[in-house]
Order: sequence, then C-alpha cells, then structure tokens
Amino acid sequence: MDTILVTGGCGFIGSNFIRHVLQEQLVAKLINVDLLTYAGNPANLADFEDDERYVFYRADIADEEAINEILSTHQVDVLLNFAAESHVDRSIVDPQAFVRTNLVGTSTLLNAARKQNVPRYIQISTDEVYGSLSFDDPAFTEQTALNPRNPYSAAKAGGDMLVLAHEHTFGINACVTRCSNNYGPYQFPEKLIPLMLLNAMDGKPLPVYGTGENIRDWIHVEDHCRGIAAVLQHGQTGRVYHFGGDCELQNIDVVRRIIEAAGASEEQITYVKDRPGHDMRYAMNFEETTKELGWTPRISFEEGLAATAQWYRDNQSWWKPIVSGDYLEWIEQWYGERKGAA
Ligand code: NAD
Ligand code: TYD
Repeated sequence: MDTILVTGGCGFIGSNFIRHVLQEQLVAKLINVDLLTYAGNPANLADFEDDERYVFYRADIADEEAINEILSTHQVDVLLNFAAESHVDRSIVDPQAFVRTNLVGTSTLLNAARKQNVPRYIQISTDEVYGSLSFDDPAFTEQTALNPRNPYSAAKAGGDMLVLAHEHTFGINACVTRCSNNYGPYQFPEKLIPLMLLNAMDGKPLPVYGTGENIRDWIHVEDHCRGIAAVLQHGQTGRVYHFGGDCELQNIDVVRRIIEAAGASEEQITYVKDRPGHDMRYAMNFEETTKELGWTPRISFEEGLAATAQWYRDNQSWWKPIVSGDYLEWIEQWYGERKGAA
C-alpha cells in the first residue's frame, strides 16, 4: 500500500477524502499538508489525530522550501493536490490570493515533486475551468476547450494546464480530475448549500443571486471522494477524469428543496444583486470515466440533501464557532499546542 500526500486536507473535500481512504484502509500512510487558511479546519479531522497512519504539516503549497523539506522527509508515492482558494465570490474581491495558491502553488508542487522524484501526481480540479453553458448546450466533455470566466476558475485552469504541460514536457506521471459542485458534511458555510441550510434553520433571509435560474450539477462529496480513490488506484497518466452528479438544478430549486428539508418558509427567499460575471450553467459528461473506472454517482440529491441537513442539525458544535468567527482563535491555539508538543 502507498504513502500518499494530500494538500488542502483540512478543507471540505480534502477532509472527506482523507476520512474515506483511512476508513477504507486504501493507504499505508497519509501526509496532510495544509496552510490552515480560513477554510482549513483541523476539527474536520479530529477523529484521526491519534491515528498512526496520519501526519499533519502546516505549510503553504507555494513555499518551495517547505514543500521540498516535507517531500525529502517522506517517501511519497502519490501527491494529490486539493489545496486551493475555492470560493468564486472571494476571487472577485481578491484575485491575487487565487493566483498565488491555485497557480503558483500548483507550479511549486509540480517542481518539488519532480525534483524529489515523486512517482505520481493527481490534480483535483473543477468543471468551472470550461466556463459557462447555455441552457441547451451539451454537457462538458474532456475535449471541451477551457474557457474560464472568473479569477477562481482562471487560476484553476492555469493550474490544470501546468500539470498536463509537466506531464508532456518532463514525462512525469500526472492526471487531472474535474468535478461538478459538491455538497455534504464539513462544507464551509459560505457555499450555497450550507449557507442556505443554516440560514433556513435560523429563520434568516436566503440570498438568491440574480434571478436564481443559474444551473449547477450537484454531487455528494462521498461520491466525488470515491471517484478520486478510483483514480488513485487505477488512473492513467495524461488523462482528465470527469465526475458529476447527473443532477442539474436551478439555484432557486435547490433553495426550495432546502426550505423543505429545513422546515423553513418560502418567505425567507430574498433576491439580491447578481454575482459579477456569474456563469449560467455547468454540466458534466462523465461517460469516459464510467467506461474507464466503472465509476457512477450513487447518492441521489434527495437522499444526500436530507443527510446533509441532518448533519448540520447534529453538528452545531462544528459550525457555530465558524459562523461566530471564534474558530480562527481555536485553530491557532490547537496549532500552538501541537507545535509545543512536537
Ligand atoms: P476548501 O476551500 O474547503 O478547502 C481548501 C483547503 O486548502 C483548506 O483546508 C485550506 O486551508 C487549504 N489551502 C488553501 N490555500 C493553501 C495553500 N496555499 N497551501 C496549503 N493549503 C492551502 O475547498 P474544497 O471545496 O474542499 O475544494 C478542494 C479542491 O476541490 C479545490 O482544488 C477545488 O478547486 C476543487 N473542487 C471543489 C468543488 C466544490 O464544489 N467545492 C468542486 C470541484 C472541485
Ligand atoms: P457556490 O456555492 O458559490 O458555488 P459556485 O459559484 O462555485 O458554483 O454557488 C453556487 C450557485 O449558487 C452559484 O450560481 C451562485 C449561487 N449563490 C447564490 O445564489 N447565493 C449565495 O449566497 C451563494 C453563496 C451562491
């Protein structure tokens, strides 16, 4: 079994992936490298802190020295890059942070992985690199030209291109995964589904951007993580793997279903000013991935949303400190104690 290095493992998808591979005993050792930005929360992995297979480093993926040091300390078989600035609205306010992590950080990881002879690299990416579809366009395929339209997706597209360019130029073993919108436990409550769930439960307004007609394809994070694990086990170099939920919904429909799941009121819906450059529709064709890896999504939106609503109801101790902002102080204290103990 392999030793894998996951970056961004304290975030939403990274922490769900770490839980998946450790619970399923798919790896011998797992090194998590995370900067602990506002989106990285060690509480997401509290149950694995004492697991002998799990090692944590606080480091920036754009810090070449730190990454080189970690890679020269451990014999890593596969590096999976989940670390990113991930929220489109924040990328409109501060594009530079997105270029630094999503583009420069990816380049730094690729250079370090090559220098330290890491045998395989997997880049976790998004359907947003393809840009926006109109209502009747066919779904994105692996051959669709990249056409990102906001700073988040532009920086992610640049990162993906660097990965495939390194594969082509230097002959490293590398591939890219692209997935549609995820939802599920441990998602930071700035993204549509957790934000709406918490506001719905709390009787607060539900801010729908523009007309609410924009379409996203929703996938439960466990289905995505199972797909990444399939790539880890059977993925081929130079490939792009698509994951989607086969579940295209207009935002307003998602919000109505959340209202139902949370027992809230339609009167809470508040239409607000649209996001600048708001992509209209994303949709993923994942037939090639199904053919090659036998992967399909298993969790229906109805089932996944009900489970997610229940998770947020049951885990107030996770999200309350995030909503109040107190978690940031807790993280520094957690990290200080850990460093002190090391
Ligand atoms: P997230 O924002 O929840 O987590 C990002 C993690 O990366 C955090 O733990 C953060 O601390 C860490 N990080 C940020 N900058 C870093 C840096 N410079 N060095 C080290 N660590 C850093 O994001 P997420 O939703 O879990 O997304 C994970 C990956 O999946 C991203 O690459 C994203 O582009 C991709 N993706 C996300 C979705 C989605 O719907 N959320 C869909 C498809 C693909
Ligand atoms: P988001 O969760 O930010 O994901 P992305 O922009 O990466 O797809 O948003 C999903 C959709 O929901 C997107 O069309 C924007 C919309 N949205 C709202 O209408 N209101 C909100 O408060 C948020 C955060 C998003």
